[in-house]
Amino acid sequence: MSKNFYITTPIYYPSAKPHMGHAYSSIAADVIARFKKIEGYNVFFLTGTDEHGMKIQKAAEKKNKDPQVFCNEISKNFIDLTKILNLSNSDFIRTTEERHKSSVIKLWKLLDKNEQIYLSKYAGWYSVSDEAYYSEEEIEEIDGLKFSKSSNSSVEWMEEESFFFKLSEWQKPLLEFYDKNPGFIQPESRRNEVISFVSRGLKDLSISRTTFKWGIPVPNNSKHIIYVWLDALTNYFSAINFFEKKNNFWPANVHIIGKDILRFHAVYWPAFLMAAKLPLPNKIFGHGWILSGEEKMSKSKGNILDPIEIIKEYGSDELRYYLMKDVIFGLDGNINLDNFKKTINDLANNVGNLSNRIFTILDKNFNCRVPETSAGYTINENLLINKKDFIEIINNFELHNYLKKIHSYSSALNKYVNDNEPWNKKANSEQNIKNILYSTIIGLKNIFVLLYPITPRSSISFLKNINIEYEDISLDLINKEFKKNEKLSNPEILFKKYKCD
Ligand code: MSP
Repeated sequence: MSKNFYITTPIYYPSAKPHMGHAYSSIAADVIARFKKIEGYNVFFLTGTDEHGMKIQKAAEKKNKDPQVFCNEISKNFIDLTKILNLSNSDFIRTTEERHKSSVIKLWKLLDKNEQIYLSKYAGWYSVSDEAYYSEEEIEEIDGLKFSKSSNSSVEWMEEESFFFKLSEWQKPLLEFYDKNPGFIQPESRRNEVISFVSRGLKDLSISRTTFKWGIPVPNNSKHIIYVWLDALTNYFSAINFFEKKNNFWPANVHIIGKDILRFHAVYWPAFLMAAKLPLPNKIFGHGWILSGEEKMSKSKGNILDPIEIIKEYGSDELRYYLMKDVIFGLDGNINLDNFKKTINDLANNVGNLSNRIFTILDKNFNCRVPETSAGYTINENLLINKKDFIEIINNFELHNYLKKIHSYSSALNKYVNDNEPWNKKANSEQNIKNILYSTIIGLKNIFVLLYPITPRSSISFLKNINIEYEDISLDLINKEFKKNEKLSNPEILFKKYKCD
């Protein structure tokens, strides 16, 4: 039986329409999920929507809608997005589903049983948009109004009776855990941020609210609603029926998140789990922000490149390829339409054109059949790929380097073809031409297998033309020989080119 691999995206607030930041997290997670699948893992890939809390309640009120009706409508945008982005998610969790609510209650009860929860009073600066309290040191005053220093969102003074989680007890165990598991938080810079935050000391965490109703009531005290982050983080259990132990996907191999929600995932979540005496996830990867002209892309700033519009015009493979190639995974990255077109044109030149040229020759001269090579000839040894290198790159979450490496392989393949001129019957014997073409179609197959996690649509289409069905796509196909005389089909033009400014 193959080994399990469990990967998640953040679950998104459906209070607004999906934007490029959401698309980015989801695409990155999908790339890893698809890669692990063709590496041979039994993959569970989870995404979904985070539907409780004051933020959603307020957004629904603004539209004069019942929050559940409101969530049903907007969550659909995120479900549609999974199709538009061509995600391979195994499930889509909504925190308003019964299966989720029951798993949150179970976690609460476990924490309660382990004496990790107590009732007291809370007073502090609360940001509705972040659904988080901030201390006096974490806020600043501008023009008489208070804002969180870290997120710039406005905060208001709130006082309420609240249940507390004994987070302060977990400072030492957390620091010990980070120390023993250096790969738990990646990249390294985020790990350092978290360690310095925890080292400064942890206060007990307020984990219930009485100021609104839209959420999961605390067991036996329905005046209180469970804190939306405790609710939301538990989604990682709900979809895999963790408490029913129906499968063994836990611990998750990795939670892919944006750096803005690192504290919740790398401090609160492991503390809740330690306190509940449950196993921790293996890794939290906090990627950077997608920026537009040095600023975080966000609706309120109006600097949005709409992923849905881009995909409508250029295609999902194209957006996936661009985001993964041009943004260093883990760092912030600036994106714009002109660079997008340049990157896609480069893909069309480097890979699309090569496939075109080779299949035109094959079609014209060999009726699109795999040419017979000379005895003992398999593939030019310079074109052999070591798939372990690619596995290692993905295991290190270097998604940009993964594409860099494919790009340099396809450049080498282009050079091989240009140097050997399989179209030049004067310079080459017929046998030579056959050998060159044979090596090149193996090279093209290698490229499209490796591109599959990034550009699934084009890869599936190319590979189908060389008789590889979707279900059979696997890293094992790399460098593998064709059947003698196998009939292939000429793939259509795979990547279009665009005029740049
Ligand atoms: N609901 C919480 C997450 C709960 S997870 C248990 C939340 N939702 S969100 O809708 O605000 O989405 C946040 C995530 O979207 C970020 O962590 C990040 O992954 C992604 N992005 C949103 N804007 C982004 C950018 N401009 N750039 C890159 N990704 C960012 O927080």
